[in-house]
Amino acid sequence: MPSIIITGGAGFIGSHVVRLFVNKYPDYRIINLDKLTYAGNLANLSDIEAAPNYRFVRMDICDFSGVLALMNEEHVTGIIHLAAESHVDRSIKDPLTFAQTNVMGTLTLLQAALAYWQSLPEGFEGKRFYHISTDEVYGALSMTHPQGIEPPFTTTASSGSHHLAYGEAFFTEDLKYQPHSPYSASKAASDHFVRAFHDTYGLPTIVTNCSNNYGPYQFPEKLIPLFINNIRHRRPLPVYGRGENVRDWLYVEDHARAIDVIFHRGRVADTYNIGGFNEWKNIDIVRVLIQTTDRLLGRPEGADMDLITYVTDRAGHDLRYAIDSRKLQRELGWEPSLQFEEGIERTVRWYLDNQAWLDNVTSGDYQRYYEQMYAGR
Ligand code: NAD
Ligand code: TYD
Repeated sequence: MPSIIITGGAGFIGSHVVRLFVNKYPDYRIINLDKLTYAGNLANLSDIEAAPNYRFVRMDICDFSGVLALMNEEHVTGIIHLAAESHVDRSIKDPLTFAQTNVMGTLTLLQAALAYWQSLPEGFEGKRFYHISTDEVYGALSMTHPQGIEPPFTTTASSGSHHLAYGEAFFTEDLKYQPHSPYSASKAASDHFVRAFHDTYGLPTIVTNCSNNYGPYQFPEKLIPLFINNIRHRRPLPVYGRGENVRDWLYVEDHARAIDVIFHRGRVADTYNIGGFNEWKNIDIVRVLIQTTDRLLGRPEGADMDLITYVTDRAGHDLRYAIDSRKLQRELGWEPSLQFEEGIERTVRWYLDNQAWLDNVTSGDYQRYYEQMYAGR
């Protein structure tokens, strides 16, 4: 019976992955290993917390003996590693924490997996160490366009279908790493360690690099949930620089589906890019968020445009991210299921319907609750 540790399962993407695996694979044992930092919230999983195939363990991924003991106890066959410090702005203020969790934490998990699986008679057979990374490790793309056409222009990069792009280059799996932020530098370092453990020890690893995710349960420090919450309360919307930066957005459940496909059918030692072929300038997203939120709240559509406030740009702000995920489509048949318009509508509706969740995580009540619950353990 597969027994899988999912790290960071109380966070945004991790909670969607845990939910998918717990519901879809009743015969698997799913162990959610999470430290419950400010970004971890067990309320994200209240619908599945009582499932018989699910266990939550509060643990730091940097705790080598704790992870090793848990692997032994649960006869772990797979690790899906999402735990990380994930917010670029925080990494600019506190890079050391990012190095500690993202680099040392990943290395600790690799060491524990190596030690435990090497101790088994069957060794690495049937085992998987799947590391979830980001497209930000590739650096930034330019906004150049072929034949002098003004961006955005239509391309056919996605398996024959058309989409809008802001430049002719895309992130492909063979691109060299050029991280710019402390966050992306720490993720790049962790990716290198994961590959090194395959090449050096034969650990059966897989790495994926995904574009920006959006959807329910994202911590409201990231662009989309922060702005929905601010629009609702008529607070200013701090757009960095001129709002010209481009991100490629993927609905979080589509990422979770990709992780499922790749965990089961991906090639060991390989890398897959995951993206939505869905590029947006920040300022255009902000306008869509205002229109959608206003409409769903019964306000005149666009009434809150005056909340847009241009503020000092983020240091080292990457201009454009755009993923080429054709390899994943070609080899494993995955593609995004949701159009952006539908995904944004669902997302805005979810945050408006779940104001209590937002109030809870912004007030810090849930952190105090965990501190009490786990005091002395
Ligand atoms: P998140 O910040 O919402 O959640 C991170 C989770 O990790 C939290 O539950 C937190 O408690 C846990 N955690 C942090 N430090 C830990 C530690 N030392 N030990 C154990 N648990 C710890 O992050 P997210 O947005 O869900 O991202 C998950 C993963 O996906 C990250 O590895 C991130 O780099 C990657 N990723 C995110 C995006 C995105 O758009 N959010 C895109 C591509 C890749
Ligand atoms: P974010 O959600 O932090 O994701 P990432 O930095 O990993 O791409 O930011 C998305 C984009 O939105 C990014 O270009 C920075 C910009 N942004 C703002 O303009 N204002 C904000 O308050 C935030 C949080 C982000």
